[in-house]
Amino acid sequence: MSSFFTVFTLASAVFLVISLVLLIYYVVFNHLIPIMFYGAFFAKTPPNLTQKILLLANVRLGQKAVDLGSGDGRLVIAMAKLGVEAHGYEINPFLVILSKINIKRAGLDNKAFVYWGSFWQKDLSEFDIVVLYGISYIMKKLEVKLKKELKSGAKVISNYFMFSNWSPEKQDGNIYLYLKK
Ligand SMILES: C[S@@+](CC[C@H](N)C(=O)[O-])C[C@H]1O[C@@H](n2cnc3c(N)ncnc32)[C@H](O)[C@@H]1O
Repeated sequence: MSSFFTVFTLASAVFLVISLVLLIYYVVFNHLIPIMFYGAFFAKTPPNLTQKILLLANVRLGQKAVDLGSGDGRLVIAMAKLGVEAHGYEINPFLVILSKINIKRAGLDNKAFVYWGSFWQKDLSEFDIVVLYGISYIMKKLEVKLKKELKSGAKVISNYFMFSNWSPEKQDGNIYLYLKK
């Protein structure tokens, strides 16, 4: 009987520790860090929307693309599969590691690159295509940054969130295509 209680106590302790670690991870990496870095928390773009984004992006060989907040790297990988050099900036180090694993598994080491860091600190002038799945409160500041840094003809495809003073060229459901004039 006493060994049953020992096992039960140990199992409960392990369960509690795992739950606590998961809770801390969720609060820190999915809420505190995104708020600190002024960005969205992690949510994945589903495959059907990825297709819509790619169609609107209409990427061409030789172009450079970037995902601002690249999550698990799915859009970076999807764009690299079409032949462009695709980059992603991501503040969550675990998602950066996961992205690098996903990139390696897809055999795209020479086409897809993910960096640990905030996109606010990066100059985006080299990119022809920018994709993002942000959050409402960053869109005003991001619009200013993109209009200032992007070259003429660059495309921005935003999942769900719209810019306030920039009219989309095209729209497919809640996916918006903007063109830097
Ligand atoms: C809504 S998710 C989108 C993930 C991925 N782009 C997709 O569509 O599946 C937003 C991601 O942006 C990251 N993020 C938030 N603020 C950021 C910042 N300032 N710089 C880089 N990444 C950021 C979050 O950690 C999160 O993984």
